[in-house]
Amino acid sequence: MLRMAWLCLLAVFASAVLAQPPNKALVEESREVANRIAGQVRDELVRELDRTSPIRAITVCKYSVPEITSNISRQTGLRVTRVALRPRNRALAEPDAWEQQVLLDFEKRVAKGEKADALEHHEIVTEPAGRAFRYMKSIAVSQPCMLCHGPVNQLSEGVRAQLLLEYPNDKAVEYQVGQVRGAISIKKPL
Ligand code: HEC
Repeated sequence: MLRMAWLCLLAVFASAVLAQPPNKALVEESREVANRIAGQVRDELVRELDRTSPIRAITVCKYSVPEITSNISRQTGLRVTRVALRPRNRALAEPDAWEQQVLLDFEKRVAKGEKADALEHHEIVTEPAGRAFRYMKSIAVSQPCMLCHGPVNQLSEGVRAQLLLEYPNDKAVEYQVGQVRGAISIKKPL
């Protein structure tokens, strides 16, 4: 009887251990990295908007962000990018098929009432190149973003002109506060 009880206990314990996702550490690291990037970008943007003008702040989104993400990639070995369904910079932010699905799912979740800045998804995928851990964290539109991602007729003359000059195929306008602007996407081959 006692032996049975022990076996049961052992079985419960073993299933609890086995039920742990094998990628828990990677999820935590990715979450931390995504939050760090989001925080740094927001700080730099707000600082630049306070100090100079939205036109100057365009350089933050353009030059500082790739620098921040590539530094983090170098430090952690994780491949970090920003992606969006309606990208401003297609060369850098075009999502692949998996990322597109997750972004669509984020939009559905927001439509059902979840908050756009609290969405994440992770998965181990098998791709032609091999197995990889993948993680995405949504980026929400907040008020300061509207200066450059809001409705075109509400953008300042200067911002509109600069965006047209640098991004003639810009799709990243007409957003509303609370929508999903895009996501931080993290990948690590396993
Ligand atoms: C001063 C103008 C400006 C403001 C304010 C701004 N952005 Fe951007 N954003 C840009 C530019 C320019 C790009 C394109 C950068 C590049 O060339 O990679 C961009 C690109 C992005 C991208 C990458 C995907 C894409 O479309 O290329 C995301 C995500 C993003 N912005 C989110 C935000 C969020 C969230 C905020 C508010 C916290 C914000 N932006 C505020 C100008 C701005």
